[in-house]
Amino acid sequence: MTIKNLASTRPLADGNAIPGMGFGTYLLSDQETMDATIKTAWDAGYRLFDTAMLYRNEDILGTTLQNLQIPRQELFLTSKVAEVAQGYDETLQAVTGSLKRLQTDYLDLLLIHWPVREHFFDTWRALEQLKANGQVKSIGVSNYTVAHLELLATKAKEMPVINQVEYHPYLNQQALNDFDTANHIITEAWSPLGRRVDLADPMIAKIAGHHNKSVAQTILRWELQHDILPIPKSQHAERIRQNAEVFDFTLSEDEMTMIDLLNKNQRNGNEPEIVYETGKQY
Ligand code: A2P
Repeated sequence: MTIKNLASTRPLADGNAIPGMGFGTYLLSDQETMDATIKTAWDAGYRLFDTAMLYRNEDILGTTLQNLQIPRQELFLTSKVAEVAQGYDETLQAVTGSLKRLQTDYLDLLLIHWPVREHFFDTWRALEQLKANGQVKSIGVSNYTVAHLELLATKAKEMPVINQVEYHPYLNQQALNDFDTANHIITEAWSPLGRRVDLADPMIAKIAGHHNKSVAQTILRWELQHDILPIPKSQHAERIRQNAEVFDFTLSEDEMTMIDLLNKNQRNGNEPEIVYETGKQY
């Protein structure tokens, strides 16, 4: 693990850089809450803000960023192509909408939100085109399994630099993360606190107690030490700040292993869609 604080970046395989931890905006749905939440997160040091067409909040996030007068070059903005927007022409057009709503002329990172069988290669080709156009700096995927990534590699001109997946102690996706790492893909964690389910774990509470940290901080630290890029979200100022304070302690190898062993492949979100090609099931 190389990052020392929220401002530290990690290199992406395409030559760009990404902050080592970000802030998720899922469920932020009104302007007032978005303004207050992003202001707290910005002041706490978060620079990566993650949205998606599906969250239906790109417009209010765009307004917030204008209201806060945040210099564009200091921000790292991620959005994601919704399932309904997939396909080559559809994606090109939909991303123009995202840029407009976010009031910017480029995204730092664009992801395919979920793999969709019908548009599997066409949507990726659109992302490659958007990158060539300069409308997005880096391209990646979300909710892709090893099989999806192997399939994509058969036709992609360039491979994703990020794979954003559900990831927390009860779903640690070790094999997927190993595959991502071997292929120069950073694994980003959505729902890094397991939608709060994992926060009730007594073993993590014990480890957290040894470090005088909260369970949430301990989980985020475990993710960072696994070179995962977490994007926690919260609408509470004290939690937003608390989640940023994970750079002043280190989990021992034993503690890391104890948390690793809690995995139970427990998904809280959707199962990534199974992709079929010419009758072959992946
Ligand atoms: P809240 O906005 O009420 O703080 P995730 O799905 O990303 O794993 O997160 C689950 C929920 O955990 C978040 O929506 C957030 O809800 C809550 N949360 C975030 N940080 C903390 C924290 N430090 N302690 C307790 N709950 C947290």
